[in-house]
Amino acid sequence: MQLFLDTAKLEEIRPLCELGVISGVTTNPSLLAKAGRSLEEVVAEIAGLVEGPILGEVKAAAVDRTTMVEQGRAIAALHPRIAVKIPLTAQGLAATSRLSREGIAVANTLVFSPAQALLSVQAGAKYVAPFVGRLDDIGESGLELVRTIAEMFRIQKSPAKLLVASVRSPLHVVDCALAGADIATVPAGVLKQMVQHPLTDAGILRFQKDESAASGEK
Ligand code: G3P
Repeated sequence: MQLFLDTAKLEEIRPLCELGVISGVTTNPSLLAKAGRSLEEVVAEIAGLVEGPILGEVKAAAVDRTTMVEQGRAIAALHPRIAVKIPLTAQGLAATSRLSREGIAVANTLVFSPAQALLSVQAGAKYVAPFVGRLDDIGESGLELVRTIAEMFRIQKSPAKLLVASVRSPLHVVDCALAGADIATVPAGVLKQMVQHPLTDAGILRFQKDESAASGEK
């Protein structure tokens, strides 16, 4: 399973992409608002830092298929590695099938059911993005949704990639990998938590102590 970074903040992407574990970046209107930047402003800079796909979403105010298609084409023109994020609505599906037929990579976002995921594949989406944390928030199992979609994609030999979003913890990431997701897009904080373990830090301290004691003995 690949890891994407779920952020529009260059100051978060820059140090973390040096780890060599990030295969792409996802943004959305909320993340761009938090970064105080527009998609147009950040795309080239993100592309300079990360080699993989960059996912940029149509404006939240774009709810009809014509506007989504127009914005999708403009977003796709920003960079060869960009994929256009479109919410999974009826209008969004119509826009997805149109853009996909034009050869534009589309990611359907805000997916909360297996039925929506099935429609997304039929519309030609390259990425299907269920939101795990937001289902957990309302007392439903986000992971169960991921497991079901992964199984459905396996049985159907689906060409779409299962990209898990709204990831809130390292455990979410591991569980999504075990469920068979293709990609998890993680906030910078979650990636940092994944790196850390107190026993790793304690182990280094003990090695340092033993090393300096041994060199003091010589
Ligand atoms: O990729 C979608 C993600 O940014 C949403 O995360 O934590 O707001 O549900 P969250």
